Amino acid sequence: MTRAALALGKDLVGLERLTDAQIRAILDTAEPFKEISERPIKKVPVLRGKTIVNLFFEPSTRTRISFEFAEKRLSADTVNIATSASSVVKGETLVDTARNLEAMRIDMVVIRHWASGAAQFLAERIRSNVINAGDGAHEHPTQALLDLLTIRDHRGRIEGLNVCIVGDILHSRVARSNIWGLLKLGANVAVCGPKTLLPLGIESLGVTVFKHIEESMEWADVLNVLRLQLERMQTGYVPSLREYNRVFGVTSARLCELDKELLILHPGPVNRGVEIDSDVVDGPHSVVLQQVTNGVAVRMAVLYLLAGGQPEQAEAAKRADEA
Ligand code: CP
Repeated sequence: MTRAALALGKDLVGLERLTDAQIRAILDTAEPFKEISERPIKKVPVLRGKTIVNLFFEPSTRTRISFEFAEKRLSADTVNIATSASSVVKGETLVDTARNLEAMRIDMVVIRHWASGAAQFLAERIRSNVINAGDGAHEHPTQALLDLLTIRDHRGRIEGLNVCIVGDILHSRVARSNIWGLLKLGANVAVCGPKTLLPLGIESLGVTVFKHIEESMEWADVLNVLRLQLERMQTGYVPSLREYNRVFGVTSARLCELDKELLILHPGPVNRGVEIDSDVVDGPHSVVLQQVTNGVAVRMAVLYLLAGGQPEQAEAAKRADEA
């Protein structure tokens, strides 16, 4: 594979447009970067001199902080902009905000936005690298990459695994990015959830649809359990949260019925007792916190590659001392 074929280009907007080789290159680049976060001094000079803006139009705990840690551990200068405290509340457009930031000579923008397509829209209008940290119900590529890395850590491969994404697929950018990433890496992908929370024609993406959670748990090697996105729902998607848990909840009772080591992921934030039981989140099948740890390494890898780093030089780059 040539360097040009592995290069990500200017932006990371989604996994739909990446090749399997590019996705593997990101995961492989994340491997050496994992160790940086285990050091007493968690810093290497890989992105020294780069200025990165984290522009978040929606609330976030994991993604925003994980990007900030990744940027700081690679020695970039970072600025966080919460739109509620910016001139967006005075009516400034997304493009004007970004162009004003560019006028201050930034290098990259990490954007989370409520509108699907916002990251692509911005990427086409500014010179800086744009990284999508979640746009509407479209894609959340770094979440899917950290999910893939966590599955690969635990199962040693992605190819041939049965992975079922459970819950609110309709509103989920995590589901879309995971479906693209998993299929490209050769997994068998299924979804399971109430009919009201499955996009029409989802099968056309190449996934199987399960109507019953028990059936999907029997089939799967890995479950990725999604949050019921209560803030995006109008009324009427599910009769009640209790009913949702009764019919589609990943419960300890259902896990106990299985005679296998099912790996359970959840992108967070978790609605304990709704889509997943509290003791399952904290139990031996769950890798929820390892996903969060891997998120920092994956985001370091994305930043490094977009800044022109080469996957095969990541090991050497992380050994460079802070001057
Ligand atoms: N998984 C995820 O995107 O979490 P946050 O909304 O807290 O960033």
